[in-house]
Amino acid sequence: MIIDTHAHYNDEAFDEDRDELLKSLPNNNIDRVINVGADMNSTEESVLLSEKFPYIYAAVGVHPDSADEINDFSLARLEELCKNEKVVAIGEIGLDYYWDNVDREIQKDAFRKQIALAKKVNLPIIIHSREAAKDTIDILFEEKAEEVGGVMHCYSYTKESAEIINKLGFYFGIGGVLTFKNGKKLREALEVMPLDRILLETDCPYLAPVPFRGKRNCSLLLPYVVEVLAECKGITTEEVERITKDNAERLFFDK
Ligand code: NI
Repeated sequence: MIIDTHAHYNDEAFDEDRDELLKSLPNNNIDRVINVGADMNSTEESVLLSEKFPYIYAAVGVHPDSADEINDFSLARLEELCKNEKVVAIGEIGLDYYWDNVDREIQKDAFRKQIALAKKVNLPIIIHSREAAKDTIDILFEEKAEEVGGVMHCYSYTKESAEIINKLGFYFGIGGVLTFKNGKKLREALEVMPLDRILLETDCPYLAPVPFRGKRNCSLLLPYVVEVLAECKGITTEEVERITKDNAERLFFDK
């Protein structure tokens, strides 16, 4: 069984068949899904979805693209939502210097405040970080984020950064990019990622694996990622499933 640690089933790409698709997951080897918030609205939707399906869980948080939503009111609401037992993480939070939608100082401030919240409620963090490796790692160090731990979702940095992040005790989220022709950098970084630190994720509806690249992604396509991961690590697909599931349980579900 597979745990999809990063999905966005609230996305309008699933409006046509959301319930049907989600109902089909347990019969298709998907054990659990964490639906991740990206702003206050999708955070509320994630929690609602988690209340509707026993195997869907929620992460609550505000993505760097919406970092200007973070204020005393939204932080209080996020904290309130963490009392719900289906909420298993704070995320996705972090820095995005690729899109640079929000002033970098505001992104950093929102990131720090949500790490502080994670520590207050004792939940791991799901980190979104794009073209901001140094600042992300600096903030994780400065805020002592390792006290709650978490995952670098959709890992996109170098082998060298992976070594630092590994030393900090964080996990690596691996998805469709691993199957891409231009996923060479990720396959190299994967060499220094210990098996017990790897989590499977879709980031659906985005980042569908080959041979579905460009199409709508969903948890049912994770076996294509499992296959490439098994190849890269020289283990069986069954081992990949078992180990990544144990990892997800250790980080998100062992209370
Ligand atoms: Ni995401």
